[in-house]
Amino acid sequence: MINKINALLKEVENLKAANAEELEALRIKYLSKKGEISLLMNDFRNVAADQKREVGQHLNKLKEAAQNRINELKASFENVQTTNDDIDLTRTAYPIELGTRHPLSLVKKEICDIFGRLGFSIAEGPEIEDDWHVFSSLNFAEDHPARDMQDTFFIQHNPDVLLRTHTSSVQTRVMENQKPPIRIICPGRVYRNEAISYRAHCFFHQVEALYVDKNVSFADLKQALLFFAKEMFSADTKIRLRPSYFPFTEPSAEMDISCNICGGKGCPFCKGTGWVEILGCGMVDPNVLENCGIDSKVYSGYALGMGIERITNLKYQVKDLRMFSENDVRFLRQFESAN
Ligand code: DAH
Repeated sequence: MINKINALLKEVENLKAANAEELEALRIKYLSKKGEISLLMNDFRNVAADQKREVGQHLNKLKEAAQNRINELKASFENVQTTNDDIDLTRTAYPIELGTRHPLSLVKKEICDIFGRLGFSIAEGPEIEDDWHVFSSLNFAEDHPARDMQDTFFIQHNPDVLLRTHTSSVQTRVMENQKPPIRIICPGRVYRNEAISYRAHCFFHQVEALYVDKNVSFADLKQALLFFAKEMFSADTKIRLRPSYFPFTEPSAEMDISCNICGGKGCPFCKGTGWVEILGCGMVDPNVLENCGIDSKVYSGYALGMGIERITNLKYQVKDLRMFSENDVRFLRQFESAN
C-alpha cells in the first residue's frame, strides 16, 4: 500500500492543468468522495494494526500534497486572470499625470473655509440673472452707471436678462427665501463688459458674505474682517477701513490690508503706501432688507464682497490676470504644492 501511496504522491506533486475546468477534473479525480485518495482511505481499514501508524502518516502526507498542489494551480489561474484584467495594453507607458486644483479654486476654498469657521454656509445663485436681483433690489438708482450697457452683458437685447456683474445678487435671492438669522457666503463667477488686459477681464470671480440678524453691528463686521485677514494672509496682518460708497450698504467701506509683500514698509506692489485694497463692505442698507421682505426695524446686517483674483494675486503675486484663464500647464503646475 505504501508503494501505491508513494506513486500517487509523485503523480499529484506534478499535476498540471491548462485551465480551471481541467483543474476541477483533477480535484474530482483525487480528492472527491470517490476519488483515488478517498478510496485509499477506505482501504486503510484493512491495514494491519502494526502498520497503521506508518501508512496513516503517508496517507495524510499524500492528501495534504494533493490539496496543496490543487490550491497552487488554482491560485495561479486566479493570478493570471486578475493581472489580465488589470493591464490595459493600450495605456501609454508614461506615468499618468494627476491634475491639480486651479489657483482660483484653491483660494475660493480657503475663503469659504475661513468664513465656514465663523458659521457661514455656502449659497449659490444663477449667473444669468434679472435686473431685480442684480440692481433694483440692491438699491441701484434707475440711472446708476453700473447698469450701463458698457458694464453689463445683456442677453438677447432684453434689458431684464443679463449676466450678473457681482455676486451680491445672491444676497437678494437668499433674503427673499430665508428668514434671519442668515449667515451665508456666496462664491461665483461674474461678468462685466470690459476690454481684456493684464488687469481686467470680462469674467472673474467674487465671494460675497452676508450676515443678517438682530443687533448686527459694524463692530461685528470689523471683527469678522480682521479674523479673515489674519487667517488668509498672516497673523500679523493689519486692516484699515476707508469710507466708501455702495448703493446696497450704508455706511460703506473699503478694506485695505497691510501689504503682505513688504510687511507695510512700502514697496512697488503697494505703490509705497504699505497698504493694499482687498474688498468692499458695509451695513446692509435698510432699503435692501425691506426689498427682500425683512423688517429693517428688527434686523440689521453686514455684507462684504471681494474678488477672488485679487486675493489670489496678493497671495501668489500673479502679475497678469489672463494667466488664470489660459490653461497654461506651466503656470498651473506651479500651484501643485498648494493642493
Ligand atoms: N458688489 C461689489 C462689487 O462688485 C462688492 C461689494 C461691495 C459687495 C460692498 C458687498 C459690499 O457686499 O458690502 O464691486
